[in-house]
Amino acid sequence: MISEKMKKALNRQINLEMHSAYIYMGMSAHCANIALKGCAVWFMAQYHEEMFHAMKQYEYLQSQGGEVVLSAVEEPLSGFTSLLDIFEKTLEHEQFMTKNVNGLMDLAIEEKDHATQIFMQWYVTEQVEEEDTVNEIVAKLKLIGDDKNALLTIDKELGSRTATVPTDFSQGVEAAAKVA
Ligand code: FEO
Repeated sequence: MISEKMKKALNRQINLEMHSAYIYMGMSAHCANIALKGCAVWFMAQYHEEMFHAMKQYEYLQSQGGEVVLSAVEEPLSGFTSLLDIFEKTLEHEQFMTKNVNGLMDLAIEEKDHATQIFMQWYVTEQVEEEDTVNEIVAKLKLIGDDKNALLTIDKELGSRTATVPTDFSQGVEAAAKVA
């Protein structure tokens, strides 16, 4: 049993996660378009991560007797000027998501909603990891500057990423996690 305020906040968060997925799908398409196939792979894996984040919240909300209310997903980011620009925008977006995750946790604490606090803990930890990963990529891209060979090496390295999250949620997140 969660409050109406919390139901609304979780629905908003589902939308934000879907928006994140949409942003990364767009970045993947852009990278493929400029022949950075490895980065395209990396961003598509990130897309799957975000869909997983959204689906976990979707199921949690339902398990708490809340109705999932989907709303329009904002247009993804565009107009990228370089790979560094793409990853800097990724970092900025993840910092924005961290703020939102923290906001949900703050609300859960304020409402003494213990179940949602435990649920949101996973996202707090996840955001630390996401920011750390992207921070490292940004740092590397800054280091290589205009070195095209190094850029291609990084592209190859990023292309080795595989999605480690479930992608088929037709039987629910838990069932999907078991086969992923
Ligand atoms: Fe679900 Fe990358 O925030």
